[in-house]
Amino acid sequence: MLQATGAVGLAAFAGCLGGGDEAEDLDELLEDDPDEFETLEIGHWWTAGGEEAAFEALVEGFEAEYPDIEVDSSPSPGGAGSALEADIRNRVVDQNPPSTFQIWPGQALIDYTDEDLLYDIEEDVWSDEMKEAYLDGPIEVSRPAGEFVAVPINIHRLNNLFYNVDVVDDAGVDPESLESPSDLLEAMEAVDDAGSVGMAQQTQSAWSTMQLWAQVLLGEYGVDAYESFIEGDVEAVESEVRDTLELVVEYREYFNEDASSLNDWDDASDYINRGDAAFFHQGDWAAGQYEGEDGFEYGEDWDHVPFPGTDGMYALNMDSFVFPKHNPSPNATVRFLQYAGTADAQERFNPHKGSIPPRTDVSDEAFTPFLQDQMADFEASTEQPPSMAHGLAVIPSIQTNIEGAFANFIDNWDVDETYDDLVNSFD
Ligand code: GAL
Repeated sequence: MLQATGAVGLAAFAGCLGGGDEAEDLDELLEDDPDEFETLEIGHWWTAGGEEAAFEALVEGFEAEYPDIEVDSSPSPGGAGSALEADIRNRVVDQNPPSTFQIWPGQALIDYTDEDLLYDIEEDVWSDEMKEAYLDGPIEVSRPAGEFVAVPINIHRLNNLFYNVDVVDDAGVDPESLESPSDLLEAMEAVDDAGSVGMAQQTQSAWSTMQLWAQVLLGEYGVDAYESFIEGDVEAVESEVRDTLELVVEYREYFNEDASSLNDWDDASDYINRGDAAFFHQGDWAAGQYEGEDGFEYGEDWDHVPFPGTDGMYALNMDSFVFPKHNPSPNATVRFLQYAGTADAQERFNPHKGSIPPRTDVSDEAFTPFLQDQMADFEASTEQPPSMAHGLAVIPSIQTNIEGAFANFIDNWDVDETYDDLVNSFD
C-alpha cells in the first residue's frame, strides 16, 4: 500500500487554477518600474546544520549588491523539503507564491512547467556570460521542458560515507579498505563489538533511507542497475533491488536506537560530531555541519570516503531558485535570480553548504580542503547518476510514490512489500 507523503499532487491543485495563463507577461511587469522594489520573499528549508549559514551568506552578498531591496527569509524547516513542498503548493493554489523559492532542478520542476506556473527567464536572467560560465549539466536541468525556468546554485554529492576517525580507529576498521556495501556491514559489526553505534541515521522521515538504499544499489550493483530502476524497469533488476533492501534491513541493526525519533538529518549527523557513531551516510550538506564546529578537523577528527563501491561516481543533487508567476516582487526577483547565477553568490554560499559551484569560474580558494577534494572527485568522476530522492531523476509523482514505499519500509522493514511498492511506484 503506497503512502502518499506529498499529499495531493500539484497538478491537481494547479488544474483548479487554470494554470498560469492569467499571469502578466514578464516583460511588461519588469518595464512598469524597474527600480521599484517590493520585498523579496525567499522560500527555503535551509535551517539545519551549516545550511543556515550558507543561506545567510547568500543573502548578505545579495544585500551588499542591492541595498535597496529588503529580503524576507521564509523558512519551512524539514530536510529534503519535507515541509516546504506542501507550503509552496498551498501558496501556489492561492496564487500567492513567495518571490522565489528553493526547488530541485530537473524532473522536480515538471509539475510546474506542465501547468505553466513559472516564467521563462532566459532573456532576463540567463545572459550569454552566465551560459558560458555554467557547466552543461546544470544548464540542462534548468530547462527540463525546453525553456529556462531555474537558476542552479550548487552541486551536491550523495554517495558519501562520513566517519568519526577515533571511533573507526578504536574498532580497528579502515574505511578506505571497504570495497562494497556488504563490506560496510562487516565494518559496522566490528564497531558495534567495540561499543559504538555503527551507523547514525534518522528514520523519522523516509527520504534519508530512500537515499541510503540508492547508494547501496549503486555501490553493490553499479550505475546500470540504478538506471534500470529510475527508468521504471524495476522487474529487470528484481534480485538487485531485493538484495539491497535486505542489506539496508541488516544495516538497521547498527543504527542508533533513537533513529525513529530524531527530528532531522542533522540530529543524526551530530552522532559523528560527538564521537558516538562510526559512520554516517548523507549528502555533503553534512560536511557543512562538521566544518562549522570549532576544533573538529577534516582528516583528523572526521573524514570521508565515497560510499563503498561507488568510487569514480559523483551521485548528483542540486538546488535552484525559480520565478513563479503571480510574483509579488518582479524587479527584486529578477535581480535575485541574476545574483544567484554569479560567481560571487556561489563563492559565498557553497563553502558553508558543503557543495561545489555549478559555475566553472569560482575560485577554489574560498573552499575548504574537504570541498577541494570533492571538486577533484567531481572532475575525475566517470559517472554522475542523478538523484531519485531529490528530484533530479524522476518526476514528482514517481518520487512521491518511491518515498511512500520507503515510508512503509522504515515502519515494517518488509522487503517483499517494499519491492512490490517500488514496482507500483512507476504505474
Ligand atoms: C536536499 C537539498 C539539500 C539539503 C538536503 C537536506 O534535498 O537539495 O540542499 O538541504 O535536502 O535537507
